[in-house]
Amino acid sequence: MLKKLIPFALVLTLGATAFGEDSPMEKEMSAMNKAYKALKKTVADPASKDANLKLIAEIKKTTETSTKMEPKTTADQPAAGKAAYLEKFKAQMAAFAKEVATLEAAVTAGNTAAAEASFAKLNDLKKKGHEDFKKD
Ligand code: HEM
Repeated sequence: MLKKLIPFALVLTLGATAFGEDSPMEKEMSAMNKAYKALKKTVADPASKDANLKLIAEIKKTTETSTKMEPKTTADQPAAGKAAYLEKFKAQMAAFAKEVATLEAAVTAGNTAAAEASFAKLNDLKKKGHEDFKKD
């Protein structure tokens, strides 16, 4: 049974790649992007606190899931460097998660200035993460 399923799974994966379908991490990142964009509009608005906390919870969830995944660019790394590459990726995702927690605390406290500062840091970490681990 398993012997038949493995090639089948492989064909599906290759097919999805060939036809340009989203990788599992791309799906998580797209969900994160949606929450992030919505949050950008209301992060400085204390009246949107509850909605903001929900968006932050979504960013937290997608961050946790993405941290357990491997960027597509891992495949381009030399075999000897793969483990270090993934460690670096996890460390940057952990730094991002830490900043998300800081943002959550600022929004919970209704500290608009701190929330804005934290949101700007997330943007920097996103840019760095994409520079280091994302193709094009
Ligand atoms: C606010 C934070 C972030 C947002 C809004 C965001 C958004 C996105 C978007 C829209 C994509 C493209 C998805 C697609 O092609 O369908 C993407 C891909 C990607 N992002 Fe992020 N991102 C964020 C943070 C990060 C961080 C912190 C890292 C790494 C430390 C990271 C690593 C990646 C990688 C590696 C991909 C390519 C996916 C793959 O290899 O399968 N992102 N991101």
